[in-house]
Amino acid sequence: MSADGSLLSISISVDYPALPGALRDVRLAIQPGEMFGLVGQSGSGKSTLALAVLGLLSGRGGRVRGSIRFQGQELASERDSFWRKLRGRQIAFVPQSSISALNPALTLHAHFREAWRAHQFGKPDPALLRELMESVSLPGQTAFLERHPAELSVGQGQRVLIALALLHRPALIVADEPTSALDVITQSEILALFRSLNRRFGTAMLFISHDLMSVGALCNRIGILSEGELVECGEAAQILLSPQHEYSRKLLSALPRALHPADLESAG
Ligand SMILES: Nc1ncnc2c1ncn2[C@@H]1O[C@H](COP(=O)(O)OP(=O)(O)OP(=O)(O)O)[C@@H](O)[C@H]1O
Ligand SMILES: [Mg+2]
Repeated sequence: MSADGSLLSISISVDYPALPGALRDVRLAIQPGEMFGLVGQSGSGKSTLALAVLGLLSGRGGRVRGSIRFQGQELASERDSFWRKLRGRQIAFVPQSSISALNPALTLHAHFREAWRAHQFGKPDPALLRELMESVSLPGQTAFLERHPAELSVGQGQRVLIALALLHRPALIVADEPTSALDVITQSEILALFRSLNRRFGTAMLFISHDLMSVGALCNRIGILSEGELVECGEAAQILLSPQHEYSRKLLSALPRALHPADLESAG
């Protein structure tokens, strides 16, 4: 934990060779167990921020300037070998799509074994795997674990990614558009799952989305990113009901009128 009690506290700028200032002086903090939502339109720098928090920017030509403090430790200057030990264990990642994230040649069981071996000896305990699968509302039986990714629905694939992220009981999950590839019903099921997992395990989350309503439904606090700058950051209800920044107002006014938070509130 940082001196101020934050789980994660960042103050960074990011440059790509072709795009200096992809993020400019972005400051935010996430408390233990907090659901923090990051919203912004395409190209605003959301994934860049996620990659910075996961220590994956250098592999993509990005350079971080500033500070990334996690559990009181400064990470921004750490080498790849350090990040490899941390990533997947203390900070886990849920990507957008299971189709590209899972290896089509491996069974689900093999995915869990590989993810386990990245940080621990031996194999994951079958009872632990069963419990993990059931916690994401998937069958825990061996027969299901012997399936290949192609034998899953998109929603089941997403649940497998969430179970993989939870395997080592991380303190923080970074989820980059984890519901964007899903139909609305599956989307709301996955949001409900994130909420229940947050309550059950106390895992904090950096939830990234361009969908303000999903973020508003899930998160305690919201940050709004516009062209590489965090233009507003605060309590979800406050931002949704009375956004201060012009860009936040624009994002809200782009919502269909029936979904507007002010109208939902007045409808009771
Ligand atoms: N490896 C890279 N090299 C150069 N520029 C990059 C690189 N990756 C991303 N960018 C640029 O950085 C900016 C932010 O990109 P980023 O992927 O973080 O946006 P995003 O908010 O995640 O968008 P989306 O909602 O479409 O996923 C964009 O202008 C993008 O073109
Ligand atoms: Mg992105």
